Amino acid sequence: MADKTQAGDRTEANEAQIAVHWKEEQYFQPSKAFIDQANMRDPNIRTRFGEDNFPDCFKDYADMLTWSTPYDKVLDTNNPPFWKWFTGGKLNASYNCIDRHLAQYRNKAAFIFVAEPEEDPPVVLTYQELYIRVNEMAALLRDFCGLKAGDRVTLHLPMTPDLPITMLACARLGVIHSQVFGGFSGHSCGSRIEDSGSRILISTDAYWRSGKLIDHKVNADIAVQTAEEMGQHVDKVLIWQRYPGKYSSPTPMVKGRDFFVNDVLKQYAGKYVEPVPMDSEAPLFLMYSSGTTGKPKGCQHRTGGYLAYVAGTSRYIEDIHPTDTYWCMADIGWITGHSYIVYGPLLLAATSVIYEGTPTYPDVRRPWRIAERLGVNIFHTSPTAVRALRRLGPDEPSKCNYQFKHMTTVGEPIEPSAWRWYYDEVGKGQAVIVDTWWQTENGGFLCSTVPALDAMKPGSAGPALPGIYPIIYDDDGEEVAKGSGRAGNMCIRNPWPGIMQTIWGNDQRFVDTYYKRYCKNPQSKDWRDWPYMSGDGAMQAEDGYFRILGRIDDVINVSGHRLGTKEIESACLTVPEVAEAAVVPVVDEIKGRVPDVYVALSPGDYKAEEVAARVIQACDDAIGKIARPRHVYVVPDMPKTRSGKIMRRVLGAISNGADVGDVTTLANASVVEDIRVVVRDQNAGGKPQG
Ligand code: WT7
Repeated sequence: MADKTQAGDRTEANEAQIAVHWKEEQYFQPSKAFIDQANMRDPNIRTRFGEDNFPDCFKDYADMLTWSTPYDKVLDTNNPPFWKWFTGGKLNASYNCIDRHLAQYRNKAAFIFVAEPEEDPPVVLTYQELYIRVNEMAALLRDFCGLKAGDRVTLHLPMTPDLPITMLACARLGVIHSQVFGGFSGHSCGSRIEDSGSRILISTDAYWRSGKLIDHKVNADIAVQTAEEMGQHVDKVLIWQRYPGKYSSPTPMVKGRDFFVNDVLKQYAGKYVEPVPMDSEAPLFLMYSSGTTGKPKGCQHRTGGYLAYVAGTSRYIEDIHPTDTYWCMADIGWITGHSYIVYGPLLLAATSVIYEGTPTYPDVRRPWRIAERLGVNIFHTSPTAVRALRRLGPDEPSKCNYQFKHMTTVGEPIEPSAWRWYYDEVGKGQAVIVDTWWQTENGGFLCSTVPALDAMKPGSAGPALPGIYPIIYDDDGEEVAKGSGRAGNMCIRNPWPGIMQTIWGNDQRFVDTYYKRYCKNPQSKDWRDWPYMSGDGAMQAEDGYFRILGRIDDVINVSGHRLGTKEIESACLTVPEVAEAAVVPVVDEIKGRVPDVYVALSPGDYKAEEVAARVIQACDDAIGKIARPRHVYVVPDMPKTRSGKIMRRVLGAISNGADVGDVTTLANASVVEDIRVVVRDQNAGGKPQG
């Protein structure tokens, strides 16, 4: 039977509805060949990580790290929900990712960089070479920029090795890095500079994307200006050159403020910087993510717990061995890249591939050529990429001579038909698949099968990871019966080492967002009273597997990445003619969801088409192209409740061609029909009317 979520069906309004159409699927078993070599083969792993052994079970992960001072306590719950992990311990992230591997793996590849232009051969960075570069960069950050432990630095870098070199150089000094996804606009970078209080911005001149060498330096200027306007001064802008020795951007350098990293680095050639032993609880990095308000939150991740958690999950769930060539196609600018391109693989001395460009450039066979050429055996990507690669080149993987042992999917629910193509064609029927559910806040995976132990079930992320105890609550705070298949709010009962420490500079928002709703007793120091609320809907089947249904808040998951509707709406409202804006998610056959924008204009004589173009430009400028609306509908008025609230539900239904339901309680019910006409005309090929 065709499943309802296949390409072409755009009538579903939300993930919950989609989920209902997914039947329970058959199980797939991992192959004997995979099992025989797997890192985690102990069938008692979940008992070992069970509640009776919590939190000490996580010593297993902490032991994967090298501590300069051993920790004395696994978990400190004195100030809920501000948990502390491995307290008393000290360690350095850069030392753990690099130095400690040198004796055994000095000239093994740490990173292999694949540039987008295919005529450029892959560039190998050995552990030794990475060590040299990170030390030199750390010397530059310390001596040229005056940075020290605890300072924040904003990075706005694309997918080249300069990014992990910079991250690891910061980590060597205990400087907190805050990498902003390279595709985000200069403006969003600037507001993150301000929020984090960075006085140094590290960017680049240019990078390749879909065959174009994109000017990125221009964003640095916008970012600095935005930050200045918000009250944060930037002293220095460091610009990496995509081609060292050559400036590839038309945007001028600002004298006295902007410096080429490559030039300045010459003063630090061969310098060694002692890795600074950091408290286990010292922040390692910030990663901004969208929430329900307009202001992105800086998820603050700790050193010890985070590193322990990504090491453990990279070993057991990603099944990374030092001999593996591992390729995660995500961007390092997202949490997936931090945890599972940089920190996790390097902690395990693996070889991690960094690909600069678009997966489908110059053609849809590119990923499979890369896999063949580099001998990639572990592959990691999103359902969005799987859908796109399938649609454009369903038979392409078979034309390349590679063989994966293991594949990951992350970021959004994957529909069973896409899962099966991934399994049959990309994995050639031999690779095990893990569908990993987690969030920027979480540091690492929360739900997934343990690949050698649990059967795979398409469309379900699987059981919780060892040491993670989920619970589904209904809106009244009652537990939804385990295994009942009923939907509710996905929560985690216990703390785990990868959970963020707080929202940078906003402890109250941290408590309110994740813990307030289901906290059983705000006075309690017992972790059992403080379940973490994920913001996702989920249901658990009889076999204990979780199916994630998507966000229950005002967050749109575009290609597996979060955009706040409020952020997009504020961008639309910067267009002077726009009086009101509402953003709703519309189902997209490739990206999962994309934003649709409805705007009502202030009185005046405007061309709807022109306003719509300005709205799109405003979204590009404020956030980045990732937030670009599919449609901008200029409507006569918004559907509103009697108290004046915009009914986004009604707009969402119209966008998705679904039933709008009961609208009789609206203050202006008749506008619904007018809006429907606007939408229908525009989708019939018409231009926005004005
Ligand atoms: C949201 C988190 C950390 C991964 C990259 C995205 C959705 C994530 C899955 C999955 C269904 C998933 C959730 C979550 N999500 N993984 N395997 N199945 N949905 O990180 O930007 O913080 O987004 O992505 O809705 O809340 P993020």
